[in-house]
Order: sequence, then C-alpha cells, then structure tokens
Amino acid sequence: MRRLSDLREQVSKLEDAEIGARFTVEPLGTKHNRAAFACGDQALDEYFKTQASQDIRKNVAAVFVLLDNAQDKIVAGYFALSAWAVLPSELPKEVLKKLPRYERLPATLLGRLAVSKNYQKQGLGGLLLMKALQQSLAQSREIGSTFVVIHSKNERGRTFYEKRGFLRLVDQPNSLFLPMATIEQLDLK
Ligand SMILES: CC(C)(COP(=O)(O)OP(=O)(O)OC[C@H]1O[C@@H](n2cnc3c(N)ncnc32)[C@H](O)[C@@H]1OP(=O)(O)O)[C@@H](O)C(=O)NCCC(=O)NCCS
Repeated sequence: MRRLSDLREQVSKLEDAEIGARFTVEPLGTKHNRAAFACGDQALDEYFKTQASQDIRKNVAAVFVLLDNAQDKIVAGYFALSAWAVLPSELPKEVLKKLPRYERLPATLLGRLAVSKNYQKQGLGGLLLMKALQQSLAQSREIGSTFVVIHSKNERGRTFYEKRGFLRLVDQPNSLFLPMATIEQLDLK
C-alpha cells in the first residue's frame, strides 16, 4: 500500500531526535510573533496575522504553531483544526459503501497549514501535517470523526496532500480527505 508507506516515511521525521529537539508544536498564544510570518501565500499569511487569534477566541478553530527553538522560538509554521461534516454525496462510492448511511459523517477540518518560506523544503510541512493528523486522531477517540478534510488553496497545496495519501472528494478537485482509519494505521505516537 504505497500511500500508507509514503505517510509512514513522514512519520519517521516525527521520531528524528534532532528535529524533535529543535522544533516544538504548541497552541498559538499572545507570546508568539505572528507579524514576521511569510509562507508565500498571502491569504495564509493574513489569516495567521489577523484572524487566527480571533478564531481561537470564538471557538472557530484550534491553531497550533511550530517553533524553532534554535532561533529564538521563531514561528516556522502553523496549522488550524476545526470540526467538520461530510455529505455522503461528497464521498467516492468505494469509501461510502463501507460506512453507515447517515445524513452527514463527522470529520475534522485541517483548515490551514503553512510553513514559513525560510523553512520550506526541509520536511517541516510533512512533519506539521503528521502532527495535525496525530491530534485529529487523538480527538477522534473522544469525539468521533471519520475523516480529516482539507480544502487546498491551490494546485501546489493539492499536490502536497495527494502525495501524502489524501484522496479527492467527489467533484471538488481541491478538497481532499484522509480516512481516520488510515491515520490509525500509521501508529503515530
Ligand atoms: C505546502 C507547504 C506547507 C509545504 O511545506 P514544506 O515545509 O516545504 O514541506 P516539506 O518540506 O515537508 O515538503 C515539500 C517538498 O520538499 C521536499 N523536501 C523535504 N525535505 C527536503 C530536503 N531536506 N531537501 C530537499 N527537499 C526536501 C519534499 O520531498 C517535498 O516534495 P514533494 O511535496 O514534491 O514530495 C509550504 O510550501 C507552504 O506553506 N506553502 C505556502 C502555502 C500553500 O501553498 N499551502 C498549500 C496548502 S493550502
């Protein structure tokens, strides 16, 4: 199963002692410097600078930051998670037939994920994604969630997720999902 093995490769980065010691993931708070963040996508930068804290306050999203401990805890990346629901009509038939016939299926939305330009292409996007999946899985054990869903902002983003095993929702090429059952098999610690 190639897709799962691709994801497993990313998981090994989570276990890399050097990366693990250098980078920390924690909830976004007032002590974090948001102003300097730049990932190359204006909407994602603006969201982080102006909207993310409000979304946390209003319980719209839980936002987490990746901090570089070697660089004065500069924000190297972030992701946002929210509750979501998927309609059966959005799912491919082969996925749907294994599920109960409910009006909506519970899901976790990975609303945003971005890595600062200076930190891109070093495996941190993959690491952040694995952290987001790890948290989604942990939450799903408290409140059921069948999938992690993402709405990619562009083709580059879509490629990033598809390479890591995400599948397309029906008739929404930039919206992807990953079954929680697949995440479960990754054995994320
Ligand atoms: C998309 C995004 C999150 C990826 O972050 P990243 O930190 O560059 O991600 P990674 O380093 O894990 O992977 C990116 C590529 O770098 C490669 N890479 C990883 N480590 C590497 C290394 N040490 N040397 C060279 N390349 C490396 C990976 O193989 C990967 O290539 P692939 O996607 O073709 O497989 C980041 O580019 C970003 O925030 N972009 C702007 C926002 C955006 O477009 N988001 C899309 C989602 S909406």
